[in-house]
Amino acid sequence: MFDQAWEKLIYKKNKQINKYPYDWVVSSTNKYILKKPNLIALDLGSGIGNNVSFLYDYGFKKIHAIEGSKTAVNLLKKKFKNNKKIKIIYKDFNLYNFKYYNYDLILDRGSITHNKIENIKSILNNINHSLKKNGYLFSVLFNKKGEFKKIKKNSYTFKNVTQNNRGLLANFFSKKEILQLFKNFYIVDLTEVTSISYLPKKKVFSTWNIICKKKR
Ligand SMILES: C[S@@+](CC[C@H](N)C(=O)[O-])C[C@H]1O[C@@H](n2cnc3c(N)ncnc32)[C@H](O)[C@@H]1O
Repeated sequence: MFDQAWEKLIYKKNKQINKYPYDWVVSSTNKYILKKPNLIALDLGSGIGNNVSFLYDYGFKKIHAIEGSKTAVNLLKKKFKNNKKIKIIYKDFNLYNFKYYNYDLILDRGSITHNKIENIKSILNNINHSLKKNGYLFSVLFNKKGEFKKIKKNSYTFKNVTQNNRGLLANFFSKKEILQLFKNFYIVDLTEVTSISYLPKKKVFSTWNIICKKKR
């Protein structure tokens, strides 16, 4: 289920208005997605469309952007008004009807990791079903490293971001758990991206960046 904290505590409060594409999305698309006519992409949890703008510039013929926050969707609609190539879908992506063999690229930049573990498993099945033969999934999920080591599954964290005691639903994974979760995909690249800030306060932030395909 979509965590409504994204709407009420983030976008409605004008937070996480990500304007620019994520660098890893740009470099990975450039490396793996061969430019050809009729490319179709799906952006899961597109936020306000920072990566959608990039995919459009890259030359995708159709982009489906799904987002569960009404405020973010309103911003998306304003931004891509009159753009026939971009379809904005206001929906919990757990309820999306994934069409078989439809996408050349499915992007999950930090979105499914904010869902319940049982939902993440079924979304990954749906993604697998919905990728074309040579289609790619680019996914970024939280790593259990550092301060997140002891956090239980389906916990509410990032109370510093929501600035209340509720926090955001998030799941953090070890490498073993990632390999298990993605066992039905062929993993092209699995990279651990860790950043350690020392000042003003020590902070360790780490993700698993995964590039994978449907198994043949
Ligand atoms: C960390 S933000 C990432 C936004 C954007 N992908 C980016 O790269 O900047 C996660 C996004 O996923 C959306 N999201 C999370 N779970 C969702 C769900 N079940 N259905 C629809 N959107 C969801 C949130 O509303 C939020 O916009």
